Amino acid sequence: MRQTTFFALLFLTALAAITACNRQPKAPEISPLTEEESARFLEQGQEIAQATFAAMSGRLQAAMQEGGVAHAAQYCNTAALPIADSLSGVYGAKIRRTSLKVRNPEDRPDDLEKSALEQYARDWSAQLPLKPKAVLIDNQTVAFYAPIKVNAFCLSCHGEVGASLKAEDYATLKSLYPEDQAVGYQDGDWRGLWSIRFDRNLHEPK
Ligand code: HEC
Repeated sequence: MRQTTFFALLFLTALAAITACNRQPKAPEISPLTEEESARFLEQGQEIAQATFAAMSGRLQAAMQEGGVAHAAQYCNTAALPIADSLSGVYGAKIRRTSLKVRNPEDRPDDLEKSALEQYARDWSAQLPLKPKAVLIDNQTVAFYAPIKVNAFCLSCHGEVGASLKAEDYATLKSLYPEDQAVGYQDGDWRGLWSIRFDRNLHEPK
């Protein structure tokens, strides 16, 4: 009886080991980006980032002229994400802006974006040039990153509170974004990243 149990156990263990082996997922074969692909995604990424930036800042400046920072901030709140979304649709890509210090909680980085941001932050503190990158994140998806810098125009909403960013405008921003961290910047500072995900197999804009 004892011996039967022993053999039964041995058999089961062996069986379990074999099944486990068979079930082991095969490591997905990821073929690295070719030079041609890298060049294409870098070019498309930059094109999209510039087009999105132009669309956003054009509307933002118009809103600022219409009703000052407080009005523009409210406009931005409702308009920035839909603009990015509609351009995402045109290019068949997912377009985001993200940062280590976000204003809009929806712009918080995912894990991959966070490590990209941390890499750029290290380069920024080491005074290395911040360059756009195209990286493969799985066989289907390419991530494009490009640094976003602050210029004088941005300071009225992202500058030093009580100085370049007026206290009353900050109060409006805070009421829209209670968890806002995106202040205290100077002209020329590194602010965050464009993060664009492409379908690797989609070649041309729709
Ligand atoms: C009128 C105020 C205003 C101005 C001017 C402004 N921003 Fe913003 N910014 C906002 C608001 C409001 C949000 C949050 C809404 C959103 O997600 O776009 C935001 C969000 C962002 C984000 C997305 C990450 C986050 O923190 O949520 C980035 C990056 C950014 N701004 C950079 C800039 C840069 C660079 C400039 C100048 C070229 C600029 N902003 C000018 C109000 C402004």
